[in-house]
Amino acid sequence: MAEVTRNIGLSLGADICWPLCYEHLMKRLDLRIPVEGDTVRFQVERVTIEPFDLRQPVKYDVVIDRLTHWYHTSREWIKKAVVMDDLYVFNNPWSVQSMEKHTSYAAMMKLGMPIPETWMVPPKSYEATPDLKPTLAKYAKLFDLGALGRELGYPLFVKPYDGGGWRGVTRCTNEQKLKEAYDESGKSVMHLQAGVNGYDRFVRCIGFGPQTHCVLYDPDAPLHDRYTMEHDFMSASDWEHLRKVTLTINAFFGWDFNSCESLRKDGIWYPIDYANPCPDSQVTSLHYHFPWLVKSYLRWSIFTAATKKKMRKNLDWEPFYEIAATDMSASEKLDAYAKVAEARFETERFDEFCDTHLGHLDEVVWEFFASREAKEAVRQKVAALFPVHEVEAFTELFWGRLQKWRADQRP
Ligand SMILES: Nc1ncnc2c1ncn2[C@@H]1O[C@H](COP(=O)(O)OP(=O)(O)O)[C@@H](O)[C@H]1O
Ligand SMILES: [Mg+2]
Repeated sequence: MAEVTRNIGLSLGADICWPLCYEHLMKRLDLRIPVEGDTVRFQVERVTIEPFDLRQPVKYDVVIDRLTHWYHTSREWIKKAVVMDDLYVFNNPWSVQSMEKHTSYAAMMKLGMPIPETWMVPPKSYEATPDLKPTLAKYAKLFDLGALGRELGYPLFVKPYDGGGWRGVTRCTNEQKLKEAYDESGKSVMHLQAGVNGYDRFVRCIGFGPQTHCVLYDPDAPLHDRYTMEHDFMSASDWEHLRKVTLTINAFFGWDFNSCESLRKDGIWYPIDYANPCPDSQVTSLHYHFPWLVKSYLRWSIFTAATKKKMRKNLDWEPFYEIAATDMSASEKLDAYAKVAEARFETERFDEFCDTHLGHLDEVVWEFFASREAKEAVRQKVAALFPVHEVEAFTELFWGRLQKWRADQRP
């Protein structure tokens, strides 16, 4: 029985807290997992940024990547490693770079999900390029923004087609506001989206492989209070519904981790923002829910590395389209999409793996979040985000919420 090591790389940017917790916990877990006659051990390392030869082999089995969506050198190193070295990476870099909100809206409309009515409009202004004038003079049609606004109804939302982090999102309550928002959008290409007005629940569902977690979200609260600590804010069938929606979206786009925002109105869940494939993982926003996320990082990376799960290099949308084309009801279709997703994420095998090999993880994590190292991880993240005079108070605030989580989750 040979001892083999699986190497897990962390490709990080401004992340501070979750990688620290992840590394400490990997040490505490000190895993030795029997796989096909071998004993599998794990080595975790932060991936550095440096010149690389395209033929240079990659030592990692799995990379958890938080950089692809904006840092090109890391993205290209990862792409080479997937193509040449059989790397498994979360998330699929091609999918992250090419799938903005717009594509995700179009795809989920095609699958029959109740995405609010959405229009794209050409930008208000342009970078001057040699062909701009003849192109626009010949082909750009004058359009009536007011008429579009009347068609969608107010309040409506004006937001960048590839948005994220609330950049450039405006809620417009009338035509005047719509025109101002469009004028201010400048060179950005924008969507106009019908508002889901008067919703009674706003839920973020985080998906990590086959693991999902729903949080009641308060978009009007300050950043550190947006993820609420509410329990029992929806029924088990709502929970199941959002799980299926999230798994469908994530499997469709090849996203191992992502977070999906949905609004409920008159009993219907409207997904409004679900192209977040580098989801917020910071204790300063997730606080009470942070341990869930850290556990999910651990479980999914350990599972994929130990079992050498094959990376799905190409997206295969046909099974979803085939279901979409049937005359099944919307809920039957969602069940069928979710089945495809569960198969791609290997839910059953994953659950069995966790039961067999990671039965002690809950307790190790529960104990860890009382430790000096855990508190230090929180403090370091707070110190990076908050002014000096607030560091103490906010460290205590988030620490207190982690302790509340411990009290609620006592093994
Ligand atoms: N169609 C909509 N109906 C109601 N509220 C919306 C809608 N679109 C966006 N919002 C509000 O605007 C916020 C930001 O928009 P969102 O699409 O989530 O952009 P971002 O990608 O920047 O998070 C949402 O969290 C929600 O509060
Ligand atoms: Mg959002």
